[in-house]
Amino acid sequence: MMAVRIWGHGAALPPLVLTNDDLAHKVDTSDEWIFTRTGIKERRIMPQTPDALVQLAVEAGMQALTSTGVAPQELDLILLTSSTPDDLFGSAAQVQQRLGATRSVAFDLTAACSGFVFGLITAAQFIQAGTFRHILVVGADVLSRWVDWQDRRTCILFGDGAGAVLVSQGAENNLLGFTMATDGKGYELLNLPYDPDRSGFAPIYMNGREVYRFAVTKVPETIEAILQTAQQQPQDIDWYILHQANQRIIEAVGERLGVESHRMVSNIAQVGNTSAASIPIALDEYVRAGKIRAGDKIMAVGFGAGLSWGGILFQWG
Ligand code: UT7
Repeated sequence: MMAVRIWGHGAALPPLVLTNDDLAHKVDTSDEWIFTRTGIKERRIMPQTPDALVQLAVEAGMQALTSTGVAPQELDLILLTSSTPDDLFGSAAQVQQRLGATRSVAFDLTAACSGFVFGLITAAQFIQAGTFRHILVVGADVLSRWVDWQDRRTCILFGDGAGAVLVSQGAENNLLGFTMATDGKGYELLNLPYDPDRSGFAPIYMNGREVYRFAVTKVPETIEAILQTAQQQPQDIDWYILHQANQRIIEAVGERLGVESHRMVSNIAQVGNTSAASIPIALDEYVRAGKIRAGDKIMAVGFGAGLSWGGILFQWG
């Protein structure tokens, strides 16, 4: 098997900031309720243009390439993980075209908030098999398109954004373990289905309490299973980057594992829940701040609609 290197980081956030107080003018909620229950203070919202998703994905992808020096023409594959493409046929081809990644095949991968982790694992398989040398994995979502802005249970949670990393053939293998899972029985808890009566998609529906319960059960189980296979202890891992769904979930998982809170990566206060984009946006922020350094061990865990969940343990850089 070829060695996997995970490196290169980029992120794109829309300039428009929507604060909790802004939302309190639209629905019956408050900054205090939102912050106490979720840890969110504000989120970013993309203008509703036809190519909003591709714009964010291209910006994040280009940054990730620039940070490595790999040229767009060297890419073999672009994996766009997203549930909110600009086009139901997929938006990856537009990302390929705008990046000028002329040699690259490109396709979309949809697994809601697990999408980025599923994408990283998928990319790693192509690298290990020796099929491809350079793969750009982008997590991008514009969930503001599909939120019911009258539904206070969901509209306070989500924000827009994109993040990206490069997965390449390396000299040493940095992929230490992974796992992924699906349970379609949980479909009713979180979905965004086609509605024939609207000739379009219904707004996001979520049973928050049940999804919360699912997350605080499955995320620690996932982490423990990966640690066991990789023969690592929770304290051996430098950073835990969980999907940024709720600060309380991040803290509950940290407590269950006995991990100090500063190792539990969090930027949910500023960006909210950006679905497939949340992990690479947080990664980019921590790398740029000099916190995450080359060689650090990172456990990334995604979870969400499907229901689906998955984790990947790797050494950065
Ligand atoms: O990204 C995919 C994965 N998603 C997740 O992991 C999300 C998991 N779930 C959660 O993070 C939490 O369940 C939420 C943040 C969504 C909700 O927090 P909660 O503590 O579970 O609240 P709840 O749904 O149990 O609602 C508590 C009360 C309800 O009132 P009653 O029925 O007790 O009178 C709600 O109607 O809070 C009310 N409520 C609100 N009040 C003010 C719900 N939303 C709001 C709001 N502002 N925005």
